[in-house]
Amino acid sequence: LITPVIMAGGAGTRLWPISRETMPKQFIAIMDDGISTFQATLRRVSGKGFAAPIVVTSNDFRFVVAEQMLQLGITGEIVLEPERRDSAAAVAVGALIAAQAEPDAICLMLAADHVIDNEAAFVADCVKAARAAESGLIMTLGIVPDGPSTAYGYIATGEALPHDGAFTIQQFVEKPDTETAQRYVADGLVWNSGNFVFHAPSMLEELAAHAPQVLEAARTAVHLGKRDLDFLRLDADAFAKAPRISIDYAVMEKTRRAGVIPASFGWSDVGTWDSVYTVKNADEQGNVLEGPVSVLDTQNSLIRSEGTLTTVIGLANVVVVTTPDAVLIADRAQTGKVKELVSQLRDQG
Ligand code: GDD
Ligand code: MG
Repeated sequence: LITPVIMAGGAGTRLWPISRETMPKQFIAIMDDGISTFQATLRRVSGKGFAAPIVVTSNDFRFVVAEQMLQLGITGEIVLEPERRDSAAAVAVGALIAAQAEPDAICLMLAADHVIDNEAAFVADCVKAARAAESGLIMTLGIVPDGPSTAYGYIATGEALPHDGAFTIQQFVEKPDTETAQRYVADGLVWNSGNFVFHAPSMLEELAAHAPQVLEAARTAVHLGKRDLDFLRLDADAFAKAPRISIDYAVMEKTRRAGVIPASFGWSDVGTWDSVYTVKNADEQGNVLEGPVSVLDTQNSLIRSEGTLTTVIGLANVVVVTTPDAVLIADRAQTGKVKELVSQLRDQG
């Protein structure tokens, strides 16, 4: 059995004003299926071949996580981080807890904020990756880039492995600058999808080698952790000592035991409003209209309202998002800057 570990503690600020500190994007129904991407992630790995999931999230999100799992009738371990320490610590905690239940656990570490359009292909790729991971490799799924984005990790594929469809990773570079990303795309590098498959003890060895303080903090936080109703609360003092670093910088850029499987499914991490627009079906004008909205002479735009009647005349390539207490109007090509806007708002109090 593969143990799914879902990392669901991120902030998702670039989808403001829908995504908020108290309710980040992974818990919001962004697609038209009425479930959140966190729920879609759970459902994707709830079938044959998978053990009960381990969800690693922030203490702040414990009720939304429990409720969204209940809605799907899925039970599993919910591990609570007292504060956000980025994904390396979350991976360490997930691997430690999976290994407690099954020392040779094969983990599928999943991001909670992805939209995947061929679930069967996704699961098949993960099963292939799990086979390669049995030999100690940390496996990723490679996505063919659609542009020189600086928001992703880039993978230079190495030689073919004896396993079905798997390759070694020659080099892994997290979030390069634009020029480097352009070169990487031209050279045929692929994006890291942000889902990892590994044998738990192998990941723990790589953490010990490349991020010992993260592992040490996670180990103590799990060891001193306390059960509280259905939750496992990590020890706050111990967890606070984990350096804030993502698994990509902490392990993937450094390890020499990494492999990749070219993904055979459609993928988007709906990281910006522009990418949300891209994964949705547009009307003949190229518009995606959601909620009480009405437009005239408007093309290639995403207009979404949570309730306030929202109208647009004569614009193209824009995103308009209305919530009860905030409105975003942005050039579609610049929605990556929402993160900057949110930190500006924070500074202004
Ligand atoms: N539990 C927990 N705690 N989860 C976290 C934390 C944390 O402190 N920080 C982030 N996460 C979760 C997020 O909720 C998300 O599901 C996942 O970890 C990835 O974090 P992001 O912050 O969204 O990472 P990213 O998008 O910048 O980059 C990663 O994903 C890209 C693909 O979407 C990297 O793996 C890139 O290499 C990759 O290309
Ligand atoms: Mg992300």
